[in-house]
Amino acid sequence: MRRSFAKTTTVLTLVFAGGASAFAADPTPASVFDARILPIFRSSQPSSCVQCHLSSVDLKQYILPSHEKTFLSLRDQGLVDLKEPKNSKILTLISMGEKDLDKGAKLIHEKMRKAEYDAFAGWIEACSKDESLCSLPPLTEAERAQPEHPVEVIRHARKSRLVDSFVRTVYSQRFRCFPCHTPHDIDPTNPQHQAPMKNMKKFKEEYPQVVERMDIFKETPEATLAYLIERSRKTHDGDVPMLDLRDPKNSLLVLKPLSKLPPKGDDGKLTIPRSSSTLDAMSHMGGLKMHRDDQSYKSFVAWIQDYSKVVQGQYKSVEELPADNWFGSQLMVRVLQTPDEWKAGTPVQLFVHAWNAKTESWAPKPIAFTQGTVTPKHMVNGALFLLAPDNRELTKDWSRETAKLPRGRYLVKAFVDSHHKLAKDPTVILGEGDFYGQAEIRSARWREGFRQAETIDGGSLK
Ligand code: HEC
Ligand code: HEC
Repeated sequence: MRRSFAKTTTVLTLVFAGGASAFAADPTPASVFDARILPIFRSSQPSSCVQCHLSSVDLKQYILPSHEKTFLSLRDQGLVDLKEPKNSKILTLISMGEKDLDKGAKLIHEKMRKAEYDAFAGWIEACSKDESLCSLPPLTEAERAQPEHPVEVIRHARKSRLVDSFVRTVYSQRFRCFPCHTPHDIDPTNPQHQAPMKNMKKFKEEYPQVVERMDIFKETPEATLAYLIERSRKTHDGDVPMLDLRDPKNSLLVLKPLSKLPPKGDDGKLTIPRSSSTLDAMSHMGGLKMHRDDQSYKSFVAWIQDYSKVVQGQYKSVEELPADNWFGSQLMVRVLQTPDEWKAGTPVQLFVHAWNAKTESWAPKPIAFTQGTVTPKHMVNGALFLLAPDNRELTKDWSRETAKLPRGRYLVKAFVDSHHKLAKDPTVILGEGDFYGQAEIRSARWREGFRQAETIDGGSLK
């Protein structure tokens, strides 16, 4: 019964619509709005903007229930071009996805994007012909429909910005996981890679059960990130997720390399670790490869925290955004014979300031920093994160190859976490109250690797 009724109405509507169009003038802006824009507004699906914006902006945020107000709101924000409707800025925003270099993402959102574009293009066209609508007085600022968050937050929540940050803060640290998790960094023609290659082969033959878990750092950062996210989605009950959005420092990616080797079984072979426990019970067949509060620990946790806040839309204001200007390098700095007050295990942050020959003074802002804990042998070591002056310039000038510091005079300032600030938030940058002292490096050469680290003597920190 019901079905046949539905059928009849459809037929009737079609007949009616067909009949009406023979007489109708162009569709009114209001009817186009109701038919095409309102469904976008009411849809529970995110708009095509998610192709690039993980949060903070959605096409719906520009739409109001009233067609008239929606139009005026767009007009007053300069998002429609009444003379050349096709040039409207809102259409440019919708078409952004066309330019995406990520072909896969582009394809996924193509249908949605086209529907949005056609709806807005048709409706703006109809509006532009309605002179009485176009000449209505402006809305108040409060009446406009627009994203709630400032443009800086919108820009920060972009997928490509997050990938860029991943490259600098996580992917750049993968040399510490060589060769086990970095198959693409093994170069068979490099004589120094022969021994690691042989060991890997032997290990994989001995422990085939864990081989599939070892390929973590893929050929590209994008593929690596996609893998980490996928592994997090597929976390088994009770297991630690690869990326823990609720508690970033509890992520498997962080806890595993902080863990010791598993015990050996009766057969003399290592027992196979699980991923379902706290740090005390966890073990890692790679052994201890990262220390709590070293520079990679800090940057891993900082990146996962940023990722978590972005995807959950937690940033509201510019003040909440992290600086995001760290650029991982393999330039090392080392403090020897640390002062007696520095207890083993205490985190220390080292900031490097460049000498400005023109003004004959130290640059007020640091150019690099690292973090490490005091070792039982009274040392602090760390690979430097270079600090870009402003993250928008960063990718333009610096790449893995060019992230270097020129030779010359540098000042190292040491800050000590005596008040355990890092225990609460591992991403904290220590301030004035934690300053211990500073020392000069007269002719730093900044070469890669621990053996060629620039060293300062703890006693010279003044
Ligand atoms: C192909 C990727 C891509 C898509 C899809 C995309 N955007 Fe953007 N959007 C960007 C980029 C890149 C920026 C940052 C521009 C900059 O930093 O100067 C941006 C910035 C913005 C801004 C901040 C203003 C500004 O000038 O920086 C707004 C608002 C915005 N987009 C809205 C949207 C809306 C609405 C949609 C969906 C209809 C959308 N975007 C779809 C890439 C995209
Ligand atoms: C000497 C080899 C070796 C090094 C170096 C190494 N690991 Fe591992 N790692 C392994 C092996 C083998 C496994 C699989 C068995 C296990 O879970 O411990 C593993 C497992 C993992 C896992 C769990 C993967 C999964 O899917 O369950 C993570 C995460 C991890 N390592 C992170 C790291 C990070 C980060 C580094 C560098 C800071 C690192 N490891 C350095 C050998 C290594």
